[in-house]
Amino acid sequence: MSKPKILVARQTFPEVISRLEQHFEVEANQSDAVWSKADLTEKLKDKEGAFTTGGDRIDGEVLAACPRLKICANMAVGYNNFDIDAMTAAGVLATNAPDVLTETTADFGFALLMATARRITESEHYLRAGQWSRWSFDLFAGAEIHGSTLGVLGMGRIGQGIARRGAHGFGMKVIYHNRSRLDAALEAECGASYVSKEELLKTADHVVLVLPYSPASHHTIGAAELAMMKPTATLVNIARGGIVDDVALAKALRDKTIAAAGLDVFEGEPKVHPDLLTVPNVVLTPHIASSTGPTRLAMANLAADNLIGFFRDKKPLTPLNPAVLAA
Ligand code: GLV
Repeated sequence: MSKPKILVARQTFPEVISRLEQHFEVEANQSDAVWSKADLTEKLKDKEGAFTTGGDRIDGEVLAACPRLKICANMAVGYNNFDIDAMTAAGVLATNAPDVLTETTADFGFALLMATARRITESEHYLRAGQWSRWSFDLFAGAEIHGSTLGVLGMGRIGQGIARRGAHGFGMKVIYHNRSRLDAALEAECGASYVSKEELLKTADHVVLVLPYSPASHHTIGAAELAMMKPTATLVNIARGGIVDDVALAKALRDKTIAAAGLDVFEGEPKVHPDLLTVPNVVLTPHIASSTGPTRLAMANLAADNLIGFFRDKKPLTPLNPAVLAA
């Protein structure tokens, strides 16, 4: 019996390609060529499955042109590149790659928070530029982390990991806001108390954004929300571009209505708004929060397992629209 044809849309680990080749006829983009949506559609036309990443848009247009497609397995926990309703309507299963990246991503959120509050990159640039001539009493004085108030906006698995690090590692007072409140046992475990979004913005010394992107969370942080924050506060976004209004943020950083920001994600990335590139009080990283070797391998293997499980016995590990399986 011939093997199902699948597409691996971006370069990935050779050992994952080898695993996939045991089950599928694989077309892989191991040269990591940049494909337009039209190229991706063309490549998908004769495929039954796809291994995608967060940059590969699967929407009604793509689906209409690819009637053989049965599953798209994202190598990311976020899946705003998928139009889930259109996929469900077309009978195409969507899967993501949760859990295996939770702790790594929470580590990075904390690293970005610390780099931002303690002005690590800004001071390194100053040193590298040969501007450091002597010690001074307030050189790059930053914000305190231990004992301060940490506000976590979005309290899924990664948000909980950040809360635990803050509460139990750094003795922070942790407050959070989420669509739904955690149960009391989980709140206690995370050392976190539930507050309104407004109270979080007004009282946190450090705000970390960890909520999923959807049209409903577009510009969750805009000019009005930034104006509520303390002038000494830091804002960290490891969630998705578009959750923050980057123009409003650059203005707030320039006007010092907040002290600093740490950003791993951007509106329209990999482009970064030029205003963010010129303000000094922002730490910028290229969407690498889950990027350690072991974690990225685990994410790729989970995407592969979803493809293998689906074609073997309709048992993918992490389906997003399981109604498709029942149909
Ligand atoms: C990364 O941004 C992910 O969603 O996994």
